[in-house]
Amino acid sequence: MENSEIIKELKSLCQLDIDAVHAYNECLHHIDVPEVKRQIEHYRADHERHIKDLSALIHSYKEKAPDFSPDLKGYMLDVFSKIRSLSGTEGALKSLKGGENLTNKRYAKAIDQDFPANIRSVIEKNYRDEQRHLTYVEECIDNKVWKKAA
Ligand SMILES: [Fe+2]
Repeated sequence: MENSEIIKELKSLCQLDIDAVHAYNECLHHIDVPEVKRQIEHYRADHERHIKDLSALIHSYKEKAPDFSPDLKGYMLDVFSKIRSLSGTEGALKSLKGGENLTNKRYAKAIDQDFPANIRSVIEKNYRDEQRHLTYVEECIDNKVWKKAA
């Protein structure tokens, strides 16, 4: 891969993780099941770590990492439109599921590319986190955790 392609891809992934943290912050206001809230806070910390690790890689190319502000198009638009249509923990989890689907698709696409080994290992690690996030959110929805809490 050319350096310019690598940088572009790293910045795009970093922006996606930034968007995810903003979406998590919004969703967390709506989650009132303590156990689920704790887990989602833990996953938000994963996204924060992704931003830190991807930014360090971007810096290694003497490039500037994206600012911590959401890109209001793709990810955010999807998550926020869902959160408006459904309330409470159920709405928040269904919104997050949309977001996690997106990060999983995006990381799956990244993993197919021919990155240098040090970058590849970061992307693989982040992708494993994303798979775990999606599995958990889907389990919560399948089990209707918002009903058990009521
Ligand atoms: Fe995630």
